[in-house]
Amino acid sequence: MSEKRSLWGSKVGFLLAAIGSAVGLGNIWRFSYMAYENGGGAFLIPYLTALLCTGLPLMILEYALGHREKASPPLAFARIHHLWEPLGWWMPVVAFSGITFFYTVIISWCMNYFCLSFNLGWGADTQAFFFNRFLRVSDSPFVLGGIRWPILAGTVLTWLICWSICYRDVRHGIEKASTIFMPLLVVLTLILVGWSLRLDGALDAVKEYYLKADLSKISLFTAAGRKVWVAAFGQIFFTLSLGFGIMITYASYLPKKTDITGNALVTCFLNCLYSVIAGFAVFGTIGFMAKAKGVPFEEAITGGPGLAFVVYPEAINQLPLLNHIFGVLFFLVLIVAGISSMISLIEAFSCSVCDKFSISRKKASSVICGIGLFGSILFTTRAGLLILDIVDHFINNYALILGGIVECVVVGWLLKSQVMRRHVNKSGGLRLLPLWDISVRFITPGILFIIVSGALLGDFSAAYGNYPVNALLLYGGGVLFFTWLTAFVLSHFPWKSEKLKVKHDPDKSLF
Ligand code: PHE
Repeated sequence: MSEKRSLWGSKVGFLLAAIGSAVGLGNIWRFSYMAYENGGGAFLIPYLTALLCTGLPLMILEYALGHREKASPPLAFARIHHLWEPLGWWMPVVAFSGITFFYTVIISWCMNYFCLSFNLGWGADTQAFFFNRFLRVSDSPFVLGGIRWPILAGTVLTWLICWSICYRDVRHGIEKASTIFMPLLVVLTLILVGWSLRLDGALDAVKEYYLKADLSKISLFTAAGRKVWVAAFGQIFFTLSLGFGIMITYASYLPKKTDITGNALVTCFLNCLYSVIAGFAVFGTIGFMAKAKGVPFEEAITGGPGLAFVVYPEAINQLPLLNHIFGVLFFLVLIVAGISSMISLIEAFSCSVCDKFSISRKKASSVICGIGLFGSILFTTRAGLLILDIVDHFINNYALILGGIVECVVVGWLLKSQVMRRHVNKSGGLRLLPLWDISVRFITPGILFIIVSGALLGDFSAAYGNYPVNALLLYGGGVLFFTWLTAFVLSHFPWKSEKLKVKHDPDKSLF
């Protein structure tokens, strides 16, 4: 049975859902660490440049494509040219099987730690607890070593929550959830920031390591400085959830008259603002912990899961009062940010499946969440952390960036960026300038190409994370191959012919 395409109930609902997708774990544990490593306040210069040069243009591109075609990525691509359909599938397939399988498991860790916060169940040695008692990490990515049941339980719960949201129509599912989650996230984060900054030693750490700009670290004349710029571009791409087809999907539910440029600006700005604000909480808390334990800040700070599951519990242990509540608050922030990103990842794939196979979204999301749960089991094993690290590296460095390049080629060159710009300007709102064409056709794909080449060179010169090469090939290469194969197979099912036909207004009078 085919359903009528849903629409967002309001502009705010759409924006909250898009920002909910963009604001995720990366804003909290990735941004702060990158800022610290790459020159503190000075990191904002490459970060904002990356936002303006690639983030914003690509966000406009994804919104515009989804809005113009009213379609998921595979259908939108197939309408431009049928040969590109597999690439249109690849993005949501990567979002689903490359990311959600492990993203749910990380949310499950947060749920477990949320419960542990009530009695500080991680004990005094938070590092040993996380790696040896909670994850019981095995020695090699090949030794699965059995399932960690508490982690599986949280994973089942996460999939259930996501399913209960995604299976309803957009307005009553994702939009409603986002209108609850996002204000909640903002309030919880602001409380956390206010609380963190009042801790002893917090403000000094913020001033010394976060706000002070070390401009020498971002010099384009040194190799290390250039690396910072590449890192900033990578972070912008990841943090805005670009290259997965998510924003294409979300924009396909927008009404005809929509301010595409304005919406893209707001999404990008608020997402980055959230990162900067969350940074105050992270630097403040670590500054407090470093002072309380008498260790240098440089030794205390770390990025990724180590920050949330080792450093934060440690800081919580040191708090003079209300430590349980602080822990509950912090892990709740991570859970809410994670789930609002998760639903967007599921939606990109489920919308594509509904478009192609004309099945109801209830059926599609139920099957997809069922398969997702099954796929997540691998990451709940004792080798889960290691496999996750490998898969994450390959998806972020290759699949995501390649997705972005493909979008630029398809829209910038095949469809022609002027056609898309005209569509944006006809839809109302802020005017999109011709500069956007240059960005989408040359600047953005050029920069993404440099990033992907750099990653490739790095991977060929040294095995990522010192993992055995066959593990990298099996899990990293395997996920890229498997997602590509799935996309290829899915693209070979026939479309209902009326889906491929769509009447666009003639594009003659432009330029
Ligand atoms: N944007 C999210 C973050 O910064 C991560 C994410 C990427 C979520 C892609 C969904 C899709 O954490």
